[in-house]
Amino acid sequence: MKNLHYHLLNSPLIAQDYLILQGIIKFRGGPISIAEYMEEVLTNPKDGYYMNRDVFGSGGDFITSPEVSQMFGEMIGVWAMCLWEQMGQPDNVNIVELGPGRGTLMADLLRGASKFEKFTKSLHIHMVECSPTLQKLQYKTLKCEDEDVSGSSGDKRTVSMFSGAPVSWHTTLEQVPSGLPTIIIAHEFFDALPIHQFQKASRGWSEKMVDVADDSSFRFVLLPQPTPAILSLMKRYKWAAKEDIAKLEQIEVCPKGMELTHTIAKRIGSDGGGALIIDYGLNKVVSDSLQAIRKHKFVDILDNPGSADLSAYVDFASIRHSAEEASENIAVYGPISQSQFLGLLGINFRVEALMQNCTDEQADLLMSGYWRLVGEGEAPFWEGPDDQTPIGMGTRYLAMAIVNKKQGAPAPFNESQD
Ligand SMILES: C[S@@+](CC[C@H](N)C(=O)[O-])C[C@H]1O[C@@H](n2cnc3c(N)ncnc32)[C@H](O)[C@@H]1O
Repeated sequence: MKNLHYHLLNSPLIAQDYLILQGIIKFRGGPISIAEYMEEVLTNPKDGYYMNRDVFGSGGDFITSPEVSQMFGEMIGVWAMCLWEQMGQPDNVNIVELGPGRGTLMADLLRGASKFEKFTKSLHIHMVECSPTLQKLQYKTLKCEDEDVSGSSGDKRTVSMFSGAPVSWHTTLEQVPSGLPTIIIAHEFFDALPIHQFQKASRGWSEKMVDVADDSSFRFVLLPQPTPAILSLMKRYKWAAKEDIAKLEQIEVCPKGMELTHTIAKRIGSDGGGALIIDYGLNKVVSDSLQAIRKHKFVDILDNPGSADLSAYVDFASIRHSAEEASENIAVYGPISQSQFLGLLGINFRVEALMQNCTDEQADLLMSGYWRLVGEGEAPFWEGPDDQTPIGMGTRYLAMAIVNKKQGAPAPFNESQD
C-alpha cells in the first residue's frame, strides 16, 4: 500500500487523477457511477486523459481513421460537398467538427476540396474541443493565422490558410452560433461520452458503480437502491424489442449521447443541413462494451485512471430514436458500414488517382491505409490485440446521417441497400 502511494505520487499525472477520484468518492460518502468515473478520467479540466497530451497515432495509445490515411478526410469532404449541393449551395455554412483530435480530418477535407472554391469559401469552421492542448494542435494542423478584422479597432479573427475560412473553437455544440445552415461531423466522438452500466440482479436492474476498496484500489459494486440514470434506462427500454432485452444480463446507456443527439437534431431541424456520425458501435442495445486502451492494448478499466483511453460502443439505434424524438424536421439514414460508406462515395477512384503519381513506397502506404479503412476487423485496433486479429475498420465502424427533410436523402445513403 505504501509502495502504491509512493509510485502514484511519483507519476504526477496518474497520481492526480487517482487522488481526485478517491477524493470524490470519499466526499460523496459512497460509490460514483461509471459515467462520472469516465468523465473525470477523460475530461477532468486539470488531469483528464485528453486534456494535456496528444494520444493519437502509433506512438500514442490508439489510431483513428483520419490518422490512417488522408483519403478518410477527403471522402468526408466529398460527403459534405454533396450535402452542400443538396442544400442549394448556400453562400455561408457552419461546418462543425465534434472532438477533432489532431485536426487531421478537417485539414484533409479542406485540402481535398480546395478546387471547389465556391464550397470552401462558404465555410465557417467550428471546432468543438474540450482539450486546450488539442485545440492548439488543431490550430497548427489547420495552418491557422490570426488576422485583423478590417475596419475594426484591433479585433482579430483566426483563419485557416488552406482556404481562408474563419475558424473558431468551442467546448460544446450549444456554443456554436445558430442561424446558418450547418454541417456537423462527429468522428469517434460519441464513443468518448460517459455511459452508465446496469446489471440484472434479483431485485431488478441495478447500476454498476465505482468504489474504493480497503487496499485503496478501485473496484466495481452494484448499488441496491435506484439511481437517476434508471430514467435513461427506461427510455432505452421503450425503444428496444422485449425479447432482445430479455437475453441481456447487462445494459449500457449513454444519456449524454441522447442529449447531444437532441441538440444536433434540433439544430439541423431549425437551421437546415445535416450531421454525419461515424463510430464503432451496434445498431441495437449495447450490453457490455466499456474498454480501456493503452499503447494499443486492452487494459483494466480501473487500472491507473487517466493513463488509458476509455470508450464504449455507440448505440446507433438510440441515436436514431433520440433524433426522431427531438425534431419532426429531420430524417435519419443508416447506419451503414464504413466500408459501404466510403465505397459508395468513391474511395476506389480516389486511391487509383493517387496511385498514378507516387513512388512504390508511397503506393504501399496508400494501399495499406486504404485496406485499414475498408477491410474487416475489430475496432479500435491499429495492431490487432493478437497476431490473428484482422485490423480493418470497415465493418465495426458504422456511419449514420441526420439531415433536414428539405434536402432529401443524402449521398451515399440514397444508394445503399440497407
Ligand atoms: C477518440 S478522440 C477522436 C478524435 C478525432 N475525431 C479522430 O478521429 O482522430 C475524441 C476527441 O473528442 C474530444 N472530446 C472528448 N470528450 C469531449 C467532450 N465532452 N467535449 C468536447 N470534446 C471532447 C477529445 O479531446 C478528442 O479530441
